[in-house]
Amino acid sequence: MTIPLRSSEDAKIDGSDQRPILGFGLGLRPEHYLEVLEGRPAVDWFEIISENYFVDGGKPLHYLDRIREHYPMVMHGVSLSIGSSDPLDPEYLAGLKRLAGRVEPAWVSDHLCWTGVGGRNLHDLLPLPYTEEAIAHVAERVCRVQDYLGRQILLENVSSYVTYTDSRVPEWEFLSAVAQRSDCRILLDVNNVYVSAHNHEFDPLAYLDGVPRERVWQIHLAGHSHNGPLIIDTHDHPVPDPVWELYVEAIARLGPVSTMIERDDDIPPLDVLLGELARARSLAASACRPAKSRVSEA
Ligand SMILES: [Fe+2]
Repeated sequence: MTIPLRSSEDAKIDGSDQRPILGFGLGLRPEHYLEVLEGRPAVDWFEIISENYFVDGGKPLHYLDRIREHYPMVMHGVSLSIGSSDPLDPEYLAGLKRLAGRVEPAWVSDHLCWTGVGGRNLHDLLPLPYTEEAIAHVAERVCRVQDYLGRQILLENVSSYVTYTDSRVPEWEFLSAVAQRSDCRILLDVNNVYVSAHNHEFDPLAYLDGVPRERVWQIHLAGHSHNGPLIIDTHDHPVPDPVWELYVEAIARLGPVSTMIERDDDIPPLDVLLGELARARSLAASACRPAKSRVSEA
């Protein structure tokens, strides 16, 4: 049995900053299990939602194991609640570690947020106040998670619709400080940057300029919905043009970064997502080329 890319050490390394480059991936969704197995689409890697496989058996694990035989994978969680004031959940962490032992992902990620308090899970990715106290709180918890898992994790920026009057720094400074203090990596969701920039009226390019380049190991691309004055991070639409444009700006600043299309609702046929992935490949190739050659082609 050939098992590709069992750890980040096997990935192609970007020479400038030692960032592993997996290529262009998709979120693995149950609607596509059979087609992926039988058709072996040209996807470089898949991201799985960790909690969907916190089970002892059944179809999800069956398909996960079979698809893993053919594709590299990364794990993406939604319930770590790294920003909560509740204690870290030892059962959840044990499940995460067990699954990582099974999948041997290139990396494990979750969100820079809190999802509940007082033992209640609100099933939403809620923003934190951008304060020194919160930076210290989250960074210390990230260190403990990384020690327990025995690996560095990636934290993703979330979309938000409210701000705290206590916040003292921009979101990108908060994210950067947490990453640097805990020595974790960043999963940059370009759609979330766009959504939050619109909702909070900041410059998305300032966000891209403000994150530490070498720590961005993965990019999410997704769609959203307009709802009155707000944009909502619904992940139920194709990636819209403004997000593609921001992606080009991100790659121009960061260089090659493992990129995936993240679709969570109104899941289209696999071919539609492969089309979006082809667009990501093409735009990234163009954005990575020296500015001089891009100008001469224009
Ligand atoms: Fe995302």
